[in-house]
Amino acid sequence: MAHKILVLNGPNLNMLGTREPEIYGHTTLDDIKRLVEARASTLKLDADFRQSNNEGELVSAIQSARGHFDGIIINAAAYTHTSVAILDALLACSVPVVEVHLSNIYRREEFRHHSYVSRAATGVICGFGAEGYELALDAISNLLNANLLNKKK
Ligand code: DQA
Repeated sequence: MAHKILVLNGPNLNMLGTREPEIYGHTTLDDIKRLVEARASTLKLDADFRQSNNEGELVSAIQSARGHFDGIIINAAAYTHTSVAILDALLACSVPVVEVHLSNIYRREEFRHHSYVSRAATGVICGFGAEGYELALDAISNLLNANLLNKKK
């Protein structure tokens, strides 16, 4: 059976395309969804792509991923830098987590250099724009396949 991946997007990412294009480019969230679905199908993953502007909704989505998804890819957007609640939900979920950011947060303002999400993530991909989501799918697919191999040994 295909591994199921929850791809979660935080606040203001629904504005991609028009939002600060000098930082985030012109790619819309719908474009990213299409890229994710195409890469997921190549990797034989089943991706569920979602966005919310609401911290509580993101926490609830992560909570309900337990037992239903094999991995989480998350761009928590601004909540990356503020949300202990999202961190705690990810830690409680106990599935592999890959953190994504379109921009290189380490080249930007200092308040973006700290990520709560990173404490729960196996790895972080940032600065590659929309391609970061495809790289994250590659990474999570490799992680899950390696876990399968280890279980068979
Ligand atoms: C972002 C980076 C965050 O600092 C910012 O608040 C976002 C988007 C990114 O994808 O580059 O909303 O997560």
